[in-house]
Amino acid sequence: MDEAVIYTILGEEGFTKMVAAFYKRVKTDELIGPMYPEEDFAGAEERLRDFLLFRFGNDPRYQAKRGHPRLRMRHAPFPIGDAEVKRWLELMDAAMEETNVPNAVQFDLRSFFTMVAHNMKNK
Ligand code: HEM
Repeated sequence: MDEAVIYTILGEEGFTKMVAAFYKRVKTDELIGPMYPEEDFAGAEERLRDFLLFRFGNDPRYQAKRGHPRLRMRHAPFPIGDAEVKRWLELMDAAMEETNVPNAVQFDLRSFFTMVAHNMKNK
């Protein structure tokens, strides 16, 4: 499915709900939760949301605030191995399920997330 199609189906609202459901889980996750800035959870949620809106819908907000994503570099401070990748993807799967992301969209987003997550591995 083309990115623009995914964006049309989910809309900004769908992405926003999905990312909120993801961060709700991250917050209490004992493995990856402690990596996120406790004092700026809302900011972290906004960064992932804006990134996805940029990536799928060309929304300009992420780039205006953060410039080039440089995700590998931005994940370098956090030790990410197979267990962390697996957990991130599990929490996102649960978030997609909770917010009723249609199955066909879940399938494509999951392959995108899986590819990016494996690329973040640094240990
Ligand atoms: C593989 C497991 C992953 C772990 C443990 C992880 C962890 C983190 C942490 C701790 C942050 C910093 C929070 C903040 O202050 O923004 C972060 C930022 C971010 N992550 Fe991940 N992440 C993972 C995978 C991913 C994936 C798969 C994506 C995209 C599909 C992603 C996208 C982002 C974005 C866009 C930011 C904000 C970058 C910025 O500073 O502008 N991450 N991640």
